[in-house]
Amino acid sequence: MSERFVIEGQGGTKKLRGTLAVKGAKNAALKALPASVLFADGMPLENVPDIEDVRRMRELLAGLSAGPALHKEVAERLRASIVLTGPVLSRWGQVSFPFPGGCVLGERPIDLFLQGFKALGAEVEEKESFFHFRAAGGKLKGARIFFPFVSVTATETLMLAAVLAQGETVLQNAALEPEIPILAAYLNACGAHIEGAGTPTITIQGTNGALLRANGRVFTVPPDRIEAGSFVILAALAGEEVEITGCEPAHLSALLALMRRADVDFKIGKDSITVFGGHKPNSAHKLISARTHEYPGFPTDLQAPYAVFMTQASGEGTLLETIFDSRFQYVDALVRMGADITVMNPQKILVRGPRGLTGKELEGPDLRAGLAYIIAASIAEGSSKINNAYIIDRGYERIEERLQKLGLNIKREKI
Ligand code: UD1
Repeated sequence: MSERFVIEGQGGTKKLRGTLAVKGAKNAALKALPASVLFADGMPLENVPDIEDVRRMRELLAGLSAGPALHKEVAERLRASIVLTGPVLSRWGQVSFPFPGGCVLGERPIDLFLQGFKALGAEVEEKESFFHFRAAGGKLKGARIFFPFVSVTATETLMLAAVLAQGETVLQNAALEPEIPILAAYLNACGAHIEGAGTPTITIQGTNGALLRANGRVFTVPPDRIEAGSFVILAALAGEEVEITGCEPAHLSALLALMRRADVDFKIGKDSITVFGGHKPNSAHKLISARTHEYPGFPTDLQAPYAVFMTQASGEGTLLETIFDSRFQYVDALVRMGADITVMNPQKILVRGPRGLTGKELEGPDLRAGLAYIIAASIAEGSSKINNAYIIDRGYERIEERLQKLGLNIKREKI
């Protein structure tokens, strides 16, 4: 049996009101759990979001008690499963894993991981749809690794792999996402030697096999900046006044700069953003073009929610996707709802606004687009059904209960 969300749209009214707390970041929790492999005494975590992807990662970790191989069916459904391969290889000198899965975002190869492990002295064998990596002498050896392009998970995986290695590893052209220095600081407090996390060059002095020790130190999963950013967009479009709490505004600079240029009214607090959507109709917002970029640029994971925002603003402009080959599968659905969007090429769309949206039956192609559909359905005229609630549950904890509290008419239904 599957589930869907049913949303009664508010049409032109902007009624949502109240406080919306941001949960811990999916993309931070999915790296913290693998990092726990590096510890002698376990890694206590707090603020872990209760979402499908986290449950899958926990399942993979639990399966490791049977040996350094990732469970095939689970790993194939979770792209971030690959992050686990770094610490496992580092600790046990070997790891076996199938090609990892995840959202359908075009080609998502794993060449950077394979090359990185080889550079650290591991040998690979491909057998029965598994990669088997084995470190010579049972231990990875520090190396200089230059990433030909920036990858978040490859940076994290190789950083974690280098922590217990022999000697020094230098990662160049590393990703800058804030989850990386936050995790590195915690690991350092527990015995790792990582310098430069959060910059393009990360240097790790391996512990030569000495495991990390938490000694009761708790890792607090930082707030989910993608969830917070999506809530800002929802609040701007459908809210009268919404306070988004427990977030880190500094991690949202790219989106907030766009919102400011678009003339959205909001106020930034220490760990909150209050959006005053009710101050003006959505047509008073300016349509500002954007392009996705690695952090601190505009995140690809906010691209679909931002496209919904563009459809309601006045003017015309483009949205360019520079990280993934194929991330506009949601556009057809928005067009069916009434949006004026032209796909110029697989990585660029042209949006003209404002256009009123009408509720429809929708099928989310990935979890970020799923939340974009919830936003679109909230402002549409009439009712919408979003069929695969499961995809949204992968990344957002009990989203319907949290949005109901703001006054959104959304419910979960079995089909
Ligand atoms: C992470 C995030 C995801 C986000 C993305 C970009 C997690 C669990 N997921 O995904 O939410 O959308 O960053 O901000 O943190 N690539 C290769 N070869 C590789 C690795 C990546 O070609 O070995 C390509 C990818 O196909 C993509 C680009 O590199 O085109 C960047 O992807 P990457 O940063 O690796 O994304 P993820 O880390 O998978």
